[in-house]
Amino acid sequence: MAAEAPAAPAPKKAPEKAPAPPASTGPVPMTRREFLYYIWGASMLLFGGQAATSLLWFAYPRFRAGTFGGVFEVDASQIPAPDSGPKAFAGGRFWLINIGDENKSDPRTDGIQTTSGVKALYMVCVHLGCLYGWEPAQNRFNCPCHGSMYTPSGHRIAGPATRNLDCFEVEAVDASGAVLAKTDKLNGSLEATAIDVTNAAKLKVNTGSRIMGQPA
Ligand code: FES
Repeated sequence: MAAEAPAAPAPKKAPEKAPAPPASTGPVPMTRREFLYYIWGASMLLFGGQAATSLLWFAYPRFRAGTFGGVFEVDASQIPAPDSGPKAFAGGRFWLINIGDENKSDPRTDGIQTTSGVKALYMVCVHLGCLYGWEPAQNRFNCPCHGSMYTPSGHRIAGPATRNLDCFEVEAVDASGAVLAKTDKLNGSLEATAIDVTNAAKLKVNTGSRIMGQPA
């Protein structure tokens, strides 16, 4: 009996190819890196916007000239004569007083030296905020609420107020706008100086810049 021929080896199967992914038709999902990039960009935009808004807020004048809180211009012709009593500027809530020799040496100032010239006194009593008035016969300001009294230069004479009247900063300018004199603090104290208005064409009273009265 003839021997059987060995069976031929089965042909090798070609490896199967992985099926191709289906063609995508929707949006490509965002990678984590892209997501973080967009978050960073949005934060920068927000931060920049806030910074620009803050800058505009501070740069834009909040008070217009001629309204309380802003600058009031007073023509030289409206400045009261020295020791003639104060003049009220209701819109700016200040009294303009021109202190001459009579009031500069007022003994009621309790030893606090007063400079001669112009001051702009805030109309509001420093006790509890009433509007005080001018009493020409007594040459002083009287507050109707609790009786505080002040000299023409704003020094407390008597009453429950514990300090002198507050003042606004004043600049005396010439016709070209150059500043000739400006309110300062007397000897570094809280006392506002009166300013020389000689040759001034007008005054600029800044009702947004208040100098608190010296404790009396
Ligand atoms: S508010 Fe002026 S004395 Fe009191």
